[in-house]
Amino acid sequence: MRRVLCLILLLLLPSVLHAESGYDAWLRYAPLDDVSARRYRDAVPPVVIVLGAETPIQSARDELVRGIKGMLNRTPRVESRVSGDAAIVIGTVTQIRQAAPQLAPAGSIETDGFSLRTVRANGARFVVIAAQNDLGVLYGTFAFLRKIAVGESIADLDQKETPYSPIRWINHWDNLDGSIERGYGGRSIFWENGRARQDLSRVTDYGRLLASLGINGCSINNVNADPRVLSPEFLPQIARVAEALRPWGVKVLISVDFGSPRTIGGLTTFDPLDPSVIAFWKNKADEIYRAVPDLGGFVLKADSEGRIGPSAVGRTHADAANVIARALKPHGGLFFYRGFVYDNRMDWRNLKNDRARAAYDNFKDLDGKFDDNVFIQIKNGPIDFQVREPASPLFGTLEKTNQIIELQITQEYMGQARHTVFLVPMWKEVLDFDMKARPGVSTPVKALVTGKTFNRSSGGFVGVSNVGLEESWYGNQLSQANLYGFGRLAWNPDLSSKQIVEEWTRLTFGNDPKVVETIANVQLTSWRTYENYTGPLGLQTLTDIVGNHFGVAVEASERNGWGQWHRADEQGVGMDRSAATGTGFAGQYRPEVAKIYETVENTPDDLLLFMHHVPYTQKLKSGKTVIQYIYDSHYEGAESVEKYVNDWKSLRGRVDDRRYEEVLAQLKYQAGQAIVWRDAVNGWFYKASKIPDARGRVGNYPGRFEAEAASLTGYRVLSVTPFEAASGEKAVECPAGNTCTAAFKFNGQAGWYDITVRYFDVNNGIARYRVRVSGQMVDEWTGADRVPSRRVDSGSSARRIVEGLALRPGDEIQIEGIPNEGETAALDYIEIHPAVN
Ligand code: GCU
Repeated sequence: MRRVLCLILLLLLPSVLHAESGYDAWLRYAPLDDVSARRYRDAVPPVVIVLGAETPIQSARDELVRGIKGMLNRTPRVESRVSGDAAIVIGTVTQIRQAAPQLAPAGSIETDGFSLRTVRANGARFVVIAAQNDLGVLYGTFAFLRKIAVGESIADLDQKETPYSPIRWINHWDNLDGSIERGYGGRSIFWENGRARQDLSRVTDYGRLLASLGINGCSINNVNADPRVLSPEFLPQIARVAEALRPWGVKVLISVDFGSPRTIGGLTTFDPLDPSVIAFWKNKADEIYRAVPDLGGFVLKADSEGRIGPSAVGRTHADAANVIARALKPHGGLFFYRGFVYDNRMDWRNLKNDRARAAYDNFKDLDGKFDDNVFIQIKNGPIDFQVREPASPLFGTLEKTNQIIELQITQEYMGQARHTVFLVPMWKEVLDFDMKARPGVSTPVKALVTGKTFNRSSGGFVGVSNVGLEESWYGNQLSQANLYGFGRLAWNPDLSSKQIVEEWTRLTFGNDPKVVETIANVQLTSWRTYENYTGPLGLQTLTDIVGNHFGVAVEASERNGWGQWHRADEQGVGMDRSAATGTGFAGQYRPEVAKIYETVENTPDDLLLFMHHVPYTQKLKSGKTVIQYIYDSHYEGAESVEKYVNDWKSLRGRVDDRRYEEVLAQLKYQAGQAIVWRDAVNGWFYKASKIPDARGRVGNYPGRFEAEAASLTGYRVLSVTPFEAASGEKAVECPAGNTCTAAFKFNGQAGWYDITVRYFDVNNGIARYRVRVSGQMVDEWTGADRVPSRRVDSGSSARRIVEGLALRPGDEIQIEGIPNEGETAALDYIEIHPAVN
């Protein structure tokens, strides 16, 4: 009987049965179960009446038909005239007023906003999706379909939505050769070998995803801009991409290089005040707008990380910005000048130097000097997309200048595609943070960046997205939630993280309550979890900041000019950024906020080490010492990821097999990496502080046997750099052309055991491994994973768990490694624990 029931249940859930790639992300329109489908089939009128001919409205029509067909297995009739029959009517308010005044909404609707209403006229029921402009019609259509997909009632609609901010844009860091700076989901969807890709259908599909969130602009090349984007030969390439996005109302922007007047224009200077340079920018803008009349504008990274800027010719950021902005102005173009300006050759020995000060120091005195189509594009924090930073003080400083916030969707410092980290809670913390910028009123960052606080005419959000050609767009199914969340917040930053993630989960994985609850819980706790094992208390992400920004390398940020210092030594840790004794950064905030960050007592624990240098024995508000908190949080973080793996396993059969397996593999990998981080960071701080873990865990790993202590044949011992990247600071490597073995003696009690093999899987070779127990081969695999590391380090550290082995005392466990190309079949350790499953 139970089996029959199961079978029936399975038949009721058709979406579970086929594999999904993730390509359709949250726009799957998966068939609803029979009960819901029946309910909606009654509520959805059988006719779609399309009143406008604009391209976004045509897209809205197609989307409606596609969505209804997908979810309800019904294909509505499409018509262009209102008759007396029940129908879904889509159009602008003006179009509806002309065609069917009785269906038009009362009052006004804001630009890009929409209303969804159920209207009864002459005995027939209409669903009216009305907007002020064509984009609003498209957004309203997506909102309507979303309701069906998440199971909300559409019986009596009466809802009006207004986007919180006019600018809801995406930046891409794609290079013209097709690579992506900080892209983890494959190669560029836009470019290939210096040109737009032959097939731009992916771009159009991406436009659809963006439009479904209300995103209306996208810059399509790296902020570290190739000057060639402005060359006459290249303009048709930009035009092609613009054409591919146009059906979805997504405008194209481009990033430009400040030196272009010289490199592209053949001038002897790029001084923005030189008449020939002014003429260059004007002519360029005219030329590009001839090719792409609806171009959104330009983005500029200047005077930062080696990019040329106005300082080279003794001009200010305002001089630079205004000249280019004036060239764009007649075309309605906007100019985004990045606030990410800093000196990456700062002297680390000077304790007053501080990269965090840079944005404020560069732009404060220029407030009011920028034209009204210039926006200062400010990263959420004063450093660089770290795991935790305070809100940039610049948000609270600019009063007479437009600003927008730059958030990073691609998880550069946040585990890239290999760790699940849902960023919405982090973004919300910044967006909701009150900068106390005007006495007596609340001035959260979201209000400041959208121009509401100081009555600017515009502002908004930009997200660095960097999707790629992989089917899942990001190389991690769960990372799609970050793009979704960014778009939803840009539309309405008052939505809660929980609302956003539940909505996303329902759309992406279906409405099964267990699925929704499990995934939402993993996502909502994932930021804290990641922070716990990569850089708690405001340390920032303790990653290899001069390398791939992925693996752990505690000291990589110290003693160099990049200024991501956390100043850890034997006595203590943290940057003193107080005004009294430190760099003065805390004093860049308005007084009420500065007061919080100025003292150790007032600073919240989460940012303590960002703001202050304290001894390891400093007590936190919780009563714990800093060092014990570091130890504990790393254990907690690693345990949480292990739990995610188990939580995910409980969804087997409830999500499609393909995505189930992909996410499972991702989470297992993350769980392994979290252990590497845990041991590395804790090991480093133990070595520095010499203060033992009160719970005795750090430096003491029961069941672990180091490879360097094994009986080695062929393998050579290697000192790993940085030392914390390998357990015991050492690994073993097998020289090319050999087959090597590391043998361990088992002396425990007879029983069932799991053996974890910790090895190094670099990306320039595929080594082979075999495990034998007293001569019997029990497992083999290849090191074929793709990680961003070519070295034996924490980024390439991988693990294989061989489950359920019968061991008895005296057994020899032998790991055999056969190197391949650059991969040396390196081993770190094995762990033997009683079998879990
Ligand atoms: C980070 C990132 C760079 C990027 C820069 C920017 O530093 O690592 O790749 O160019 O931000 O935002 O300009």
